[in-house]
Amino acid sequence: MEPVEEPVAEPVVEPVGTAEVQEQVRNRRALRHKRSSRVEVEPPVWFMGQVVSAMSTRIGAFTYLVGGVVDDCSSIGRYCSIAAGVRIGEADHPVDWLGTSPFQYDGTRFGWHPTAESYQVSAIDSGPSGSFWRDPVVIGNDVWIGAGAVVRRGVTIHDGAIVAAGAVVVGDVAPYTIVGGVPAKPIRRRFDDATIAELLELRWWRFTPQQLDGIAFHDPARALVQLRERVPSLEPYEADTTVLTG
Ligand SMILES: CC(C)(COP(=O)(O)OP(=O)(O)OC[C@H]1O[C@@H](n2cnc3c(N)ncnc32)[C@H](O)[C@@H]1OP(=O)(O)O)[C@@H](O)C(=O)NCCC(=O)NCCS
Repeated sequence: MEPVEEPVAEPVVEPVGTAEVQEQVRNRRALRHKRSSRVEVEPPVWFMGQVVSAMSTRIGAFTYLVGGVVDDCSSIGRYCSIAAGVRIGEADHPVDWLGTSPFQYDGTRFGWHPTAESYQVSAIDSGPSGSFWRDPVVIGNDVWIGAGAVVRRGVTIHDGAIVAAGAVVVGDVAPYTIVGGVPAKPIRRRFDDATIAELLELRWWRFTPQQLDGIAFHDPARALVQLRERVPSLEPYEADTTVLTG
């Protein structure tokens, strides 16, 4: 069975890719990653502080991360703001096995020491309630995750959602919903149903700031009118993605 890995920072590898790509991924050196992790970004993306990546992740354009751990999170959309100290998609341990320690299912945990030689691990899905392993986190577009938030593995955070500072998100977050607390509960929706439906149809994050120039983002009702008019003539921005991890 494949060893299960937890997010332990490893030394930064030297920047890879062309100089041009590195210019489009700001402060790429702040990304620390496990050897097995694959971080693919669609520029521009900005690592403002140390981000530890443990598994494979795709990060969309115009997203910035101030810092924290991105463990099992298959994708982060465009125009996301990820604050300091977030912990996204870290592993659960078994809660109804005899023990909680990963040594039960992960032979690499202590297999490096003679006391754990020849120890046969149990399969992750062999416990009384089946697998305790969850799907990766998925984060949509225009999502703001506040400082110190924890997002449990298996959760999907939909477009336009906000996670309050310090929240522990244990279930999916609907589009344009603000959640907060421990466990996180909806605080309110950002807009009425009709506005949310229209925003999800318009998907303004397909475009660059330049293409969106002049849209009254501070005035959602007016911005919607402007977007409705402009979006049909815009070509969605597409950038070559680049893999930052070697
Ligand atoms: C959630 C947040 C966005 C405010 O949203 P808002 O809709 O304007 O919230 P309000 O201030 O109107 O408060 C609404 C309710 O949410 C509660 N609330 C606000 N922030 C909360 C938090 N972090 N955790 C739990 N509840 C929170 C308020 O107490 C209030 O509860 P009440 O209705 O029972 O009185 C903000 O508090 C927050 O957490 N921002 C993150 C800041 C941050 O981490 N920045 C990092 C830089 S990227």
